[in-house]
Amino acid sequence: MASLTIRKLDDAVKTYLRLRSAKNRRSVEEEVRVILRELIEGREEPLTPFAVPTAALSTTPTRQRTGAVAEASVTLIIGGGIAAYKSLDLIRRLKERRIEVRCVLTKAAQQFVTPLAVSALSHERVYSDLFDPQSEFDAGHIRLARECDMIVVAPATADLMAKMANGHADDLASAILLATNRKILLAPAMNPLMWNNAATRRNVAQLQRDGVVLIGPNSGEMAEAGEAGIGRMSEAIEIATAAERLLRPPVPRPLAGKRVLITAGPTHEPIDPVRYIANRSSGKQGFAIAAAAQAAGAEVILVSGPVDLSDPQGVTVKHVESARQMLEQVQAALPADIAIFAAAVADWRVANEGEQKLKKTSAGMPPLQLVENPDILATISKLTDKRPPLVIGFAAETEHLIDNAKSKLARKGCDWIVANDVSPATGVMGGDRNTVHLISRRNGGKDGEIAVDSWPVMTKEQVAIELVAHIAKSVTDKSREPAS
Ligand SMILES: Cc1cc2nc3c(=O)[nH]c(=O)nc-3n(C[C@H](O)[C@H](O)[C@H](O)COP(=O)(O)O)c2cc1C
Repeated sequence: MASLTIRKLDDAVKTYLRLRSAKNRRSVEEEVRVILRELIEGREEPLTPFAVPTAALSTTPTRQRTGAVAEASVTLIIGGGIAAYKSLDLIRRLKERRIEVRCVLTKAAQQFVTPLAVSALSHERVYSDLFDPQSEFDAGHIRLARECDMIVVAPATADLMAKMANGHADDLASAILLATNRKILLAPAMNPLMWNNAATRRNVAQLQRDGVVLIGPNSGEMAEAGEAGIGRMSEAIEIATAAERLLRPPVPRPLAGKRVLITAGPTHEPIDPVRYIANRSSGKQGFAIAAAAQAAGAEVILVSGPVDLSDPQGVTVKHVESARQMLEQVQAALPADIAIFAAAVADWRVANEGEQKLKKTSAGMPPLQLVENPDILATISKLTDKRPPLVIGFAAETEHLIDNAKSKLARKGCDWIVANDVSPATGVMGGDRNTVHLISRRNGGKDGEIAVDSWPVMTKEQVAIELVAHIAKSVTDKSREPAS
């Protein structure tokens, strides 16, 4: 899921959000959630009474002065230790990773590094005073605590950790650390005797219980002549890597190594070179499933009828027109681990397709003879060789949805059916939302019972994500079954 950093929005948008959230007595984050919900439900409040200049509504992402687009932001608190000089390199390392950095210097830290150096490297103003009227007119310390994706403390001095462990908030750094609900990464740095002191041990244990993450300290030579032991702050590159891992945890890819074949959209069955029989399928559901399966790590082949959609990134798309072309491409794409047939394939095609454009004649309308199209779902479900282990069909029905879907499951020989009501009143055909029922053979069909799982109304993207999650679970469960 993407995260939104309010601090990175344009000033006018931020002002609008603050005023609107204050008016509605909500946090800014909660207000953004409400606005998004209203937008999805199509009942957004007008922007007045707080007008936002249109120019301020630009969607251009935050650009760092280096030209790179920042993807995350960190509030870096620099404590008063000799290792503070390393935090200058840390700023650079974070920015290299497209992480924007706002720095807070404690009073003691300013004895070791200057606000000017920190501000020149971070390209941002530096914060150090809790009672600064310039930044506190709108509770700046709360914003520094929340309008970031994470807080890094480097160096984390014994004193700063003692304050954190005991909930002190008598300066800007400790107030931010107490007011935040973001992840905190500490890079402790101190003399080995301070690190091993019983009080520091207690504080470290308390902070770990509180969910704070520590990196280091490393063992090595101290700044003090002739002293060595555990207490050296981790290197800037180690801290930046740890911060990056916390900010961007590896995305689970439950379908990695699986090949997923999906069909989508309508088919066009030619009447003559310029006319065809079609249906109202937009392809949105199949395309959303392709994108979700690709995001879950699968190799995805999408066979699509004529649609007005861009190919999903990272997906191999085969564009076809007719049902017969679709079947050809599906067969060519086998073998696959999972096949999902979401296309609205025309049941019939014109047997006597005109080689030239049919002309109006005094004899009246030319007769159209229809002939049945190949049944792609049944053909693939009944394969003995190369049948994908999981075959999923879609049932678009306008009446007796569940009953029709159950009999379709039996008739076609597939494993699951995703049933959706496509009667005009639902707006499903061509629309962005869908209400589906997942119909499957319980226990993989062993006991012959059929399970119906009804999902609430969702966007087609949500349906896709949910379906892929079910597929991933089924694939994992199967791989755990003992080999027979
Ligand atoms: C030269 C010098 C070096 C220091 N180095 C450290 C250090 O590496 N780690 C530490 O915990 N305290 C160190 N201190 C003590 C801290 O500066 C002191 O505890 C200070 O109050 C910490 O402030 P802070 O809470 O803003 O970090 C050092 C003090 C001096 C004078």
